[in-house]
Amino acid sequence: MRHFLNLREHSPAALRALADRALMIKRGEATPGAIKGRTLVMLFFNSSLRTRASFEAAMGRFGGSAIVLNVGSDTWSLETRDGVRMDGDAPEHVREAAAVLGRYGDAVAVRSFATMRDHGADFADAIVRAFAAYADVPVISMESASEHPCQGLTDWVTMIEQLRETRGRRFTLTWAPHVKPLPMAVPHSAVLAAAAAGMLVTIARPRGYALRPEIMATARQWAAAGGGSIEETENHTDARRGADVLYVKSWGAAFADNAGPVNNPNLADWLVTRDHLGQDTRLMHCLPVRRNVVIADDALDDPRSVVIDQAENRLWAQAAILDAVFNAERGA
Ligand code: CP
Repeated sequence: MRHFLNLREHSPAALRALADRALMIKRGEATPGAIKGRTLVMLFFNSSLRTRASFEAAMGRFGGSAIVLNVGSDTWSLETRDGVRMDGDAPEHVREAAAVLGRYGDAVAVRSFATMRDHGADFADAIVRAFAAYADVPVISMESASEHPCQGLTDWVTMIEQLRETRGRRFTLTWAPHVKPLPMAVPHSAVLAAAAAGMLVTIARPRGYALRPEIMATARQWAAAGGGSIEETENHTDARRGADVLYVKSWGAAFADNAGPVNNPNLADWLVTRDHLGQDTRLMHCLPVRRNVVIADDALDDPRSVVIDQAENRLWAQAAILDAVFNAERGA
């Protein structure tokens, strides 16, 4: 595995092997030995709590080290467009920055959110792909506009841990309100992971909030191959009923005015509460989560919420990813 930029460019079998390896590392049955002595350069264009801390923890715990840079505050701002006259705010181009960081690190990890201004341009993931093109070392996406692959793999790890057998189990992704429109990266990767896991996937979302067609096409293909299914509905009440996993996430509409709908009082009943949890439902969310906007206190604090275990599993999933990337780099 040269790069880990998204889930959709890997096979479900390869991703399942990574998820299994992550659980073995967590149980102490495997060691990600390729991390030892390696340096990961982490570049953040956007804020993070879990991603930053879990990558640093994985590198440190298994004998590597991490360099963390926040673009624009403790590095130069970067120009990402090709062929432009750089007479604006950004004094450095991504071509030089990526090439230089690749000389310091054995891999470069990049976080760059969607701009939410042009969903088509966002989906091209220009920044992360520029690093993959120019860094000359493996590149890991720590969330781009199109996907959050480390989160998606973690979600699969968590569902295996919680359910043991994921095939044929019911996975409901439910849209939820928010104070502002958010990117689709997390729901994209969560749906892909559940489809790859052979689950019966239902996406409950208001009219106009469809996920990207490219992601849906891959998810349908993976679900069909793995014995699962994909459905979409605007009826969140039915969708939540009987879910083995209720995965909550807010995202902005791709083709609507994003300024208003998220605070639309007509959508307020999409807030997830304890009443939406079945007896054996596991409640998942990638975090951070706005309490009582996205998920009510009574659901988040319920024993059926596994959001903290899910966040912990970022550490183990990323240890498996880092090990695979470093092993591939040395031809193992
Ligand atoms: N889930 C996740 O990526 O969390 P952070 O944004 O805090 O890294």
